[in-house]
Amino acid sequence: MTSSHKDNSRRNFIRIAAAGSIALGAAPITNVFGSGNFTDADLLASEKKIPAGKGKSVMGLRCEPLKIVRIGLVGLGMRGSEAVRRLIQVEGTELIAIADVVPKAVKDANKQITDLGLKPAIEYTGEEDWKKICERDDIDLVYQCTPWLLHTPIAVYAMKHGKHAACEVPSAVTLDQCWDLVNTAEETQRHFMMLENCCYDFFELNTLNMARNGVFGEILHAEGAYIHDLRWLKFMKEGGYHDMWRLEYSKIHTGNPYPTHGLGPVAQLMGINRGDRFDYLTSVSTNQVGMSLYAQDKFGANSPEAVQSYKLGDMNTTVVRTIQGKTIMIQHDTTSPRPYNRIHRISGTKGMAVKYPEEQIALEPNAHEFLKKEDFDALMKKYEHPLAVQMGEKAKKVGGHGGMDFIMDYRLIYCLRNGLPLDQDVYDAATWCSIVPLSEKSVLNRGNSIDVPDFTRGAWETAKPWPIVSIE
Ligand SMILES: NC(=O)c1ccc[n+]([C@@H]2O[C@H](COP(=O)([O-])OP(=O)(O)OC[C@H]3O[C@@H](n4cnc5c(N)ncnc54)[C@H](O)[C@@H]3O)[C@@H](O)[C@H]2O)c1
Repeated sequence: MTSSHKDNSRRNFIRIAAAGSIALGAAPITNVFGSGNFTDADLLASEKKIPAGKGKSVMGLRCEPLKIVRIGLVGLGMRGSEAVRRLIQVEGTELIAIADVVPKAVKDANKQITDLGLKPAIEYTGEEDWKKICERDDIDLVYQCTPWLLHTPIAVYAMKHGKHAACEVPSAVTLDQCWDLVNTAEETQRHFMMLENCCYDFFELNTLNMARNGVFGEILHAEGAYIHDLRWLKFMKEGGYHDMWRLEYSKIHTGNPYPTHGLGPVAQLMGINRGDRFDYLTSVSTNQVGMSLYAQDKFGANSPEAVQSYKLGDMNTTVVRTIQGKTIMIQHDTTSPRPYNRIHRISGTKGMAVKYPEEQIALEPNAHEFLKKEDFDALMKKYEHPLAVQMGEKAKKVGGHGGMDFIMDYRLIYCLRNGLPLDQDVYDAATWCSIVPLSEKSVLNRGNSIDVPDFTRGAWETAKPWPIVSIE
């Protein structure tokens, strides 16, 4: 993002929240538990309080194949500008319209498009112009990379206007929003995909293939995380997050606001919503120390940033137990000075794998030790995922977190063009994102256990786990 990107008038966080809630016709979404579906008491028995559905299940939804996927892209900041670069390199796409409230971001995005010899996209720069994009009749997919509080409102509006919707992580931050996504997808029979790119990283795909082939035996436990020191970016006043939205969120929320990078890959691998589902969770957070210390060092002890209180604990640890008696541990820490880590640890009856800090596997009969490099390499080769075989090279060239972002985009477009169910559906998005409000609720209640709603309304019992897919 360029500095002039930030020269634009600064719209505050509350206005973003308000725009989102007006669009939904709901109460302000700064209330973490949403506006109406659940009282605190209801939440404790939430799976018994499933709201009435508005349409039929979209589990395994297939829609009309699209020859060309015509895209409207909203949010062209750090992530969205990269999405433009990738999407114009995916076969069978046309970027029809682009929107950002920062005009320079829109111009820069269009330059990427025209530099490739493609037709320029129609430009939008108004605060609510995403509605105009959703209302167009020449768009199939609304793809968005906006700040968190806009995700559900835009996706819901897009589906209600007949579009498929794809949205950055997390797609929802309240239970109401989770249900809004599910209910709208069911009502409109449109696809919704949360763009959880980590599901397409190479080691994650590889261990998924191994898991499906029984290499780890029965998987009873997994761990994932988002441990990424983002202090510098959160406190960056120019050139960082639009209106410092991530820092604003940290002021008013605790728990795990960003669970899906670690959770998505292990949830898919363990067949969550497909043969198993989340039952309940318990979550605890440390005190908040690091953001204040950072602010004191950077801006001075009496600076507004240093005296400001932040609710987000430095480290959050959430443990989810599933109906089939499995556990998943998810951590979030964007404050502590530590190397980047998503853990990705899988533990089964025949062995285990872990990704960070180093990709390693240990298997029976000698699981006391990690495999030697040549045995590890041979196993990785044997179980290389078809998506990595078919697209790995090109994905690494296009890039985007080492290639996983391109594989994700390519698969999304491929599924839409071939009328296939998407790899991640609205139930995955709602379930994975429900950790955001439920972990906060648990943290605020001394780690007491909280039920996780069954967003599939029972469809998990017969749905089959995500298969090993390809692009052929
Ligand atoms: N999957 C990943 O690996 C990954 C990586 C980074 C960010 N993200 C996610 O992507 C999203 C965007 O993050 P970012 O780092 O690009 O933040 P950012 O602040 O750089 O980008 C957000 C963009 O949205 C624009 N915007 C704000 N209000 C708007 C409106 N009303 N209409 C149109 N545009 C509007 C802003 O001007 C900005 O350009 C977040 O949800 C974040 O969590 C995901």
